Amino acid sequence: MTVIAVFNQKGGVGKTTLSANLAATLAQNGIAPLVIDLDPQAHLTATWGLNPRASQSIYRFYQGTSPLTDLIQTSGPGIHFIPSHLELARVDSQLVRHRDHIWRLKLALEAEMLAGSGTPIIIDCSPMLGILSFSALLAADLILIPVAAEFLALNGACMLERTLFGLEKFDRRRERRYIVNRYQDGNPTHEKVRAQLEKHFPRELLRTIIHESNDIMAAVGDNLDVFRYAPDSSASTDFSFLLDELIEKNLIGIEE
Ligand SMILES: Nc1ncnc2c1ncn2[C@@H]1O[C@H](COP(=O)(O)OP(=O)(O)OP(=O)(O)O)[C@@H](O)[C@H]1O
Ligand SMILES: [Mg+2]
Repeated sequence: MTVIAVFNQKGGVGKTTLSANLAATLAQNGIAPLVIDLDPQAHLTATWGLNPRASQSIYRFYQGTSPLTDLIQTSGPGIHFIPSHLELARVDSQLVRHRDHIWRLKLALEAEMLAGSGTPIIIDCSPMLGILSFSALLAADLILIPVAAEFLALNGACMLERTLFGLEKFDRRRERRYIVNRYQDGNPTHEKVRAQLEKHFPRELLRTIIHESNDIMAAVGDNLDVFRYAPDSSASTDFSFLLDELIEKNLIGIEE
């Protein structure tokens, strides 16, 4: 698997946190991923301390005036990325006029030989299900879905399954994996929610858990990932376990 779309229609569940820290984990292991911020909120871009012009962002690609490769920047820890901009929200409002836009990202990743090159590509999606998220889901080999350890998580996951099932009208089924985020050991609600998810999605639920962590929250405030903010923290251990599990299950493509 090469292209990973980090998606959940529910807001604030940890998509951006997961994208940033999975990318950092790869970089930590000497693998330079390509990360695409596909959310007009541009939170991931801001996490990297950037405030690019619209013309330097993925918006230009959707305008049809730039290939993806011309928009790639490189950050300190060796992560290649394409930033986002608020103007990108315009793309999501054009679904009726530009239905074919949903294929644009997949086709470009292939044509520009980014997909399948051995470089993992991580796409941080917005919580909106418009052109942008559709493009990411159709471009993806794997859909990685963070779920918060809270009541109704199972409801949300079942709704999401229906959405993803709808996507199969357009193209083949995508592999998907759920990961529980903001988990607190010993919290009976969290334990119950995880057990429910495990029962309903025995194959799709990852065994890695991302725990609630002050380091994760504080790292964002300093425009850092957990490895640079708190390399010996339990949060960095969680993300290392995640990468190990993805590699072990052959869910992430890494150049030998
Ligand atoms: N494991 C965690 N421990 C502590 N805080 C967390 C954790 N995961 C996420 N957060 C915090 O929760 C908030 C929302 O996370 P994040 O921005 O990653 O969610 P999101 O799904 O990308 O949101 P949106 O749907 O708006 O794009 C952030 O303040 C983030 O720092
Ligand atoms: Mg986000």
